[in-house]
Order: sequence, then C-alpha cells, then structure tokens
Amino acid sequence: ATPLRLGIAGLGTVGAGVIRLLRANADLLRARAGRPIEVVAVSARDKTRDRGVDLAGLRWYEDARELVTDPDVDVVVELIGGAEGTARAVVEQALAAGKPVVTANKALVALHGSALAQLSATHNAPLLFEAAVAGGIPAIKTVREGLAGDRLLRVGGILNGTCNYILTVMRETGKDFATVLKDAQDLGYAEADPSTDIDGLDAAHKLTILAGLAFGQPVEFSSVHVEGIRRIGAEDLSFARALGYRIRLLGLAHMTECGLQARVTPCLVPQHSPLAQVDGVFNAVVAEGEFVGRIMIEGRGAGAGPTASAVTADLIDIARGHTIAVWGVQASAGLPLRAAPITLG
Ligand code: NDP
Ligand code: HSE
Repeated sequence: ATPLRLGIAGLGTVGAGVIRLLRANADLLRARAGRPIEVVAVSARDKTRDRGVDLAGLRWYEDARELVTDPDVDVVVELIGGAEGTARAVVEQALAAGKPVVTANKALVALHGSALAQLSATHNAPLLFEAAVAGGIPAIKTVREGLAGDRLLRVGGILNGTCNYILTVMRETGKDFATVLKDAQDLGYAEADPSTDIDGLDAAHKLTILAGLAFGQPVEFSSVHVEGIRRIGAEDLSFARALGYRIRLLGLAHMTECGLQARVTPCLVPQHSPLAQVDGVFNAVVAEGEFVGRIMIEGRGAGAGPTASAVTADLIDIARGHTIAVWGVQASAGLPLRAAPITLG
C-alpha cells in the first residue's frame, strides 16, 4: 500500500513524541490506517540538538515552509506552536496548496480557526487538531462526532494540565508555586511561554475550540472571560480544604437567553465531586446535551505520550481518507460567535 508521508514541523516535546510513537506502533498503525505512516522530512530551529530520536535518513529543512513545497510530503504536521509566525504560515500555506494538516496548536485554531476553515474547505484540504484540546483525551472527536446527534447546552472542564498539576502538587506537598511550575516545565507540560498556562489563556484557547464545535460555529476568542491561577496561594488552598472544596481552573461555555457565555476562572469544587478527583496533569472534558445528559471524560491533558497519541489518531483519519469539516459543519457557518459579557451578581 502507498505510504502516507509526513513532514513534521517542530521536534520538541510533541514532535519527538510523535516520531517515537509512530516507530513503536508502526505495525499496529499500518493495520489500522490501511497503509504505512512514515516521516520523510522534519524541521526545527537547532539541527545539533539531541531529541532522543534518530533523525538519520530524514530530510531536514531550516525553513519549515519548505515542508509544504516538498513533493514527497503528503501531510504537514505542525508542532511548533504559537498563533502567528512560522506555525501560522506553514499551516496556511499547506492548506492553500491542498495538503492536509494535522496540528496540536490550540492558539492558532482558537484565534484563526474561522479563516483556516475557509482555506481548508476552499482547497479541500483537511485540518485536524485532536491534540489541541486536553492532550490525550479524544475531546474533539467526542464533541464533534460522538455528540453530533444532540443539541449541546454546555461544554468545558479542566482544560490545562500545567495548572491542574500546580494546584494538585501545591495542595498535596506544600511546595511553592514557582517550584511546581518549574517541575511542570521539566515534564514537558507547559507552553513555551508558561504565562500562557498560568494566566488561563491556554485553557481559554481550548474552551474557544470546544465551544465552536459544541455550538456549530467558531467563537470569537477575545470575547471569552479569562482569569488564571497566578494569585492562588497556599492559604487559598488550605481555606478551600477546610471548607470541603478543592480549587480547579475551569473553562465553561454555555448558552443562555443572552447568548453564549464562556469563561475560564479558578473555581471551588466540592471535594467529593467528580471534578475534584481529577488530579495532577489530568484533564476532564464535560459536556451536557438535551438528550445525552451529562458526560465527562478524563485523561492526561499534556505531555509527549498522550499528545502524540492524539496527533496519531488524526493521521490515521487522513490515511483512511476521511474528510471532516473543521467545525463539523460547513465553513460558511457564519461570522465567529461572540460570547456575551459575564455579569456578576
Ligand atoms: P516545544 O517548545 O517543546 O517544541 C517546539 C518545537 O518547535 C521545537 O522543536 C523548536 O525547535 C521548533 N520550532 C520553533 N520555532 C520554529 C521555527 N520557526 N521553525 C521550525 N521549528 C521551530 O513545544 P511542544 O512540543 O510542547 O508543543 C508544540 C505544540 O503542541 C504547541 O502548539 C503546543 O501548544 C502543543 N501542545 C503541547 C502539549 C504538551 O504537552 N507539550 C500538549 C498539547 C498540545 P528547537 O527544538 O530546535 O528549538
Ligand atoms: N500547556 C498545556 C497544558 C499543554 O498544560 O495543558 C497541553 O495542551
């Protein structure tokens, strides 16, 4: 069978993790995809860096955009990160050239998902981003396909592994915020700029994407209310415990009479509730539909292995020839939906 040939842009935590998984599971993936999935070309900044994977025999590009023009690359896998710069250029150029794209880049999809959906539809090039929300949890497929038959009322959950790890380890060990954040960075959980995690922006990117899928229309990122965990200290965690609660950074989007409301904020959750049991790097995605009722799925929300698993699921979809519209509906669904301002009191 003809192999599906990949060009991977970005060889950090996720990029190297994807190469490791593709090699470890090569036979299994060939059976599931109906054809081999092979990496033929890569790009990163530093050619001399040891990434713990053998890159011998792979074409190396200084400029990741050359992956798009390489005729041997069937699919561009964007694992650089960031909503602008090279990551955005590579994705836009690949779609415009009719090449399928798989990405884990939530910032890019949250900020430019509407325009990317148009490009994807116009050039008949799939854009898949399962790894962009909640790491190894199949959150996108669950909301877009698994719940496609129902009218969803709310969606969200614990959407940032770094923050949940910090809140958990601070509570359990009494270590200070900066030390635990450094651990999360060393474990490969945090974004290149970790303020994206702790200020709630990463969770808001993911909520924007989930809400777009749940409500059938891209959501305007700037209309999401965002608050992070920077101000949470040891005292807050122990007061919460004394009152029978745990602190979780939650992202929640729901439809109200005034329209969509979407917010990311630290919340007190009762200590025996399901969300309070989700500790460490684990995330939980919750959704509620008119017919299905409430569902919750839990799993590792960050790290090389879980994220590589999600990227690979998208690659199998492409190898099988699936064509899935970006928001699960036609790209012409309209202008991005603005969330209504949050009113307190
Ligand atoms: P890293 O910072 O570990 O890796 C980024 C990679 O991109 C590095 O290999 C870097 O090269 C490369 N890079 C940076 N700029 C360029 C450029 N201009 N051209 C080519 N390559 C470039 O990030 P992660 O692997 O953690 O994250 C990658 C993406 O996956 C991000 O969008 C992130 O949000 C997302 N993601 C991450 C998860 C995680 O757990 N880490 C989970 C889910 C999604 P070099 O190594 O030479 O510096
Ligand atoms: N920095 C992100 C997190 C990576 O901690 O959840 C997974 O998207």
